[in-house]
Amino acid sequence: MKKVRKAVIPVAGLGTRVLPASKVVPKELLNLVDRPILAYIIEEARAAGIEHFVFVTGRSKGAIEDYFDHQVELEAQLSAKNKSDVLNALLAELPREGEMSFVRQMQPKGLGHAVWCARDIIGDEAFAVILPDMVMDAEVAALKQAVEAYDKVGGNVIVVERVPHDQTHQYGVVALESQEGRLNKMTGMVEKPAKGTAPSNLIVSGRYILQPEIFGLLATQEKGAGGEIQLTDSMSRLMDSQSFHALEYEGVTYDCGDKIGLLRANVAMALKRDDLGEAARRALAPFFV
Ligand code: UTP
Repeated sequence: MKKVRKAVIPVAGLGTRVLPASKVVPKELLNLVDRPILAYIIEEARAAGIEHFVFVTGRSKGAIEDYFDHQVELEAQLSAKNKSDVLNALLAELPREGEMSFVRQMQPKGLGHAVWCARDIIGDEAFAVILPDMVMDAEVAALKQAVEAYDKVGGNVIVVERVPHDQTHQYGVVALESQEGRLNKMTGMVEKPAKGTAPSNLIVSGRYILQPEIFGLLATQEKGAGGEIQLTDSMSRLMDSQSFHALEYEGVTYDCGDKIGLLRANVAMALKRDDLGEAARRALAPFFV
């Protein structure tokens, strides 16, 4: 079985839930303490052994490409002012040359369509999909947990997490053969099931390992929930011929595409920082008396 080397990171959505913040700044670059969300995502992917990142971008997302490139004037000025700490922190975020690709999804037709846009760069190998607005804080990087599960069972692996039963209608929900331990064979999945009809309370939470055969199905996928081309619908079809396992990962998810999720993530990331945690705790304390 070949190593999972490439990850698709779709960033072409409109980010309507965090407007107007996402009007000129892509929501994937919104701030978590002092780094954009995407910096955390790349760190997680690297920890999982990912070597190539395929961003599916759209109009007004140009800042993402700029973030992962040199800012020559700024770097020269920091150097001239002997601000080597700041300069080094800046340079540490840069990718190695050639390890990022950018493809355009010319209209945000849905997550399934966004993933399909990466087909030529992924080629004929298993790959990861990372939804960058879902920031996963875990001792072992969430995608690494997924890759380790994939190394055991092969096929397709979907990272899931539990939500209260009355919230399942907002998400993609999986059906499992049995629920023993954290890694279980899936029997189905459904996107945004009507209230009271969900097959479980385990939701698809933003990390996937998929086989390249998904692209052929995405190419012919009809619009689904919300009038969008849904990845979930093509995965359901792929399930007829390939195995799918759901991994309930160990960690905490922050939905940074949502106002409160973004706020929670900022607080959590500040509190866990060695250099800032204590100061953050003191600064936040008055809000909780
Ligand atoms: P979301 O549904 O969370 O993102 O899609 P969105 O559409 O930008 O957000 P809202 O609902 O309007 O607030 C999950 C990920 O998939 C990408 C988004 O950029 C996000 O990172 N996506 C979604 C695309 O790249 N293309 C699409 O057509 C849809």
